[in-house]
Parts: sequence; C-alpha cells; structure tokens
Amino acid sequence: MEKNRIHIFDTTLRDGEQVPGCKLNTREKVKIAKKLEFLGVDVIEAGFPISSPGDYKSVQEICKSVSNTTVVCALSRAVEKDIEIAGIALKYAKLPRIHTGIGTSHCHIHYKFNSTQEKIIERAIHAVKYAKKYVEDVEFYAEDAGRTENEFLAKICENVIKYGATVINIPDTTGYCLPKEYGCKIRFLKENVKGIHKIILSTHCHNDLGLATANSLAGIMNGAEQVECTINGIGERAGNTSLEEIVMIIKQNSHLNLFTHINTKLISSMSHLVSKCTGMKVQANKAIVGMNAFSHSSGIHQDGIIKKRETYESINPEDVGIDKSSIILTARSGRAALAYRYKKLGFFLKKNSLDLVYSIFLKYADEKKEITDMELKKILKKANVNHKKNNKVLKNHHTNDRRINVL
Ligand code: KIV
Ligand code: ZN
Repeated sequence: MEKNRIHIFDTTLRDGEQVPGCKLNTREKVKIAKKLEFLGVDVIEAGFPISSPGDYKSVQEICKSVSNTTVVCALSRAVEKDIEIAGIALKYAKLPRIHTGIGTSHCHIHYKFNSTQEKIIERAIHAVKYAKKYVEDVEFYAEDAGRTENEFLAKICENVIKYGATVINIPDTTGYCLPKEYGCKIRFLKENVKGIHKIILSTHCHNDLGLATANSLAGIMNGAEQVECTINGIGERAGNTSLEEIVMIIKQNSHLNLFTHINTKLISSMSHLVSKCTGMKVQANKAIVGMNAFSHSSGIHQDGIIKKRETYESINPEDVGIDKSSIILTARSGRAALAYRYKKLGFFLKKNSLDLVYSIFLKYADEKKEITDMELKKILKKANVNHKKNNKVLKNHHTNDRRINVL
C-alpha cells in the first residue's frame, strides 16, 4: 500500500444510479466507465449484477473496456447466488473485485433479518469465503455501520479479515453520523481490529444531513485509505460523498499529507458527462462543479477578482478544468465589472461615459437576472457616448457562455 495515498472508489454506476429517475443504458455506462478510468479512479463499482440482466451486461461490458490498472467491482448481498452471478459477470475484468456484505446494526439485524449478531457473523464469513472462490480481491461492507456499536463492528471486521477480506467498507448508510463520531469509529477499528493493517479500510458516506463529505474527510484523517464516492454526489436519497469535493479537499490541503491519483483537470468534463447521461442537473451552487462555483456577480467581489483572483477564490478553476472565473453582470455589479466586460467586448469607456452607461445598465439590470453581451451593446447605443473600439478584442471574444465570458 502506497503510504498516504487515498484510493478513490467510484460508485456512480452503482449507488449513484440508484437514484429515482436516473437510468443509464449499457452504452452510457461504458462511456462513463472509460472516462472514470481516464480521470484516474482506482476502483469502478460497475453495478449489482444479480439485480437485472441489463446491470449484469453492463458490468460485463465495463470489464471488457477498462484497462488493467483499474479495479472493476460488482456488488452482491451476502447470498451465494448474488456472489456467484457477480463473480461470473466479472470474468473479463483484469482486476476483479466482489463487494459483498450484510447489515450489522441492531435495526438491520433485528428488523431486516430477524437474526442475531452471532448468525450475522457466520453469514459474513461465509459470504467472504464464497466470494474468494471467484476472486482474490473481496471487499466486505458492514451495512449501516454508522449505527452499529463499535465493539460488534470490530468483531465482524476481525472475522472477515481472517477469512480473506482485502478491503473493509464502513458505510454510514443512513447519513446518521457526525464527523467526529465517524472519525472515532474509523480510529477505533484501526486500533482494535487484529489484521486491520493488512487491508484497506474504506469510507462510504451518505448525505442525508449534508455531512457525507465531512464524514469521509473525518474517516481519512483517522486512518481510512479509501473513499467511496460519486460524480456530482448523486446517489440514494440525498446522495453520496461527491468525488470532486473529497478529491479537491485533499488537493487543496497539502498539510493533510494525503494524495489521490485523480487528474483533477478532468473533473468538470466528467461532471458534465454524468449529468448529461443521467439527466440529473447539477445544482448551480454545487461545490466545484455547479454553474456558479466560479462565477461572481456582486460588485465588491467582482472588483476584488478583477484585481486578483485569489481575493474571492480559494480554488483555481483551471485545476478542475474550467478555463477561468466568470464575471456575471447583475444589479449588484459595480462599475469595475461593467468596464471590464465592455473591455472584453472591445469597448474602452472613459469615466464620464462609464457613469452614464452604468446608470442605464442599472435600470436594465433591475428588470433582469443577468445582462448579456447583446444587451451591453444595446445599452451603449442608447447612451450614445464616446468610446474607443478595438476590433481585435471583439473578434476574439465569445458571447454569453459563462464558461467563456471570463477573466
Ligand atoms: O450505503 C450502503 O450501505 C451501501 C452498501 C451496499 C455498500 O451502499
Ligand atoms: Zn451506499
């Protein structure tokens, strides 16, 4: 295991796809998987093969199309038939992994399985032993680990390690934990489970309270070596930890002394691809990949950004594959931003002219959400002021695309 490396396990195609209204066909899944590989993820969870013939086929096709450095993983319950089908679906993978497991919380053991802790341990051991017949790399998940007592969790982890689990996943299935609690859980396992240093310990956090990324971060700061996440944070209910958030947190905070193999410059295009294929729009204010993540519309911020980008941005947009920041003209914008946008269009305004244009601009802006380049030209005509025109700048400037209309 490379010291300080955090493995990125992407489950966009499995947990991510479990979203109401999101359906991907095999062709789209293969396309996403190939791009995920290019992005540099360590593991692609390709699907849950027993769940449907379509998912089985997708897992098979993904195995054929990814190269020999990315692990392809298939989900199963702790049920022989599930494991067998997962094993067969993974036949063409160069690096296959079966992800099997069972609920470990009192709630799951009592209400879902009507069982006991002892019987659950037996089923977990059997599932891992059975999966080992098909693949060497077996990941065990303790479903609802977030609500499982640490002592029992440690006991089940120790048992599955003894029977060959190579990775152990600690899902906060219902997004229940606070970061401190989740971090302590991971630390407890690191300190109390025999054999834990031989395996990779993984986080898998859901976002029901908006804490998925914070919990994953607490997990890796307390010794977990893998983060399970999805592009754009899509997933069951409120979603999973978002890949772009956890990866950029690690990149931005070098004092954590952690790193991933993700090529962050592909994050923006990856996000677009997943959004397009799944039909799930990314909310405008979503961290890293939302349309407004690098857009500035208030006068004070725009003035700062024009002088020095770092005044109002801690992340360089180029690091995630976005050309540059955007200056959006609204009724909250100031003269500096207006002059700046005119300059981009090739118009240089003296102070007096700018004052007049600005007063007309404000009238327009109070009526509209955002002022476009076309409207800026209209305003200029209406103001009928002197301005110097530079055709060269005008020719190179593209209109109204936020990602182009930039610093
Ligand atoms: O959230 C969860 O517990 C899961 C498991 C099936 C890994 O997705
Ligand atoms: Zn999950």
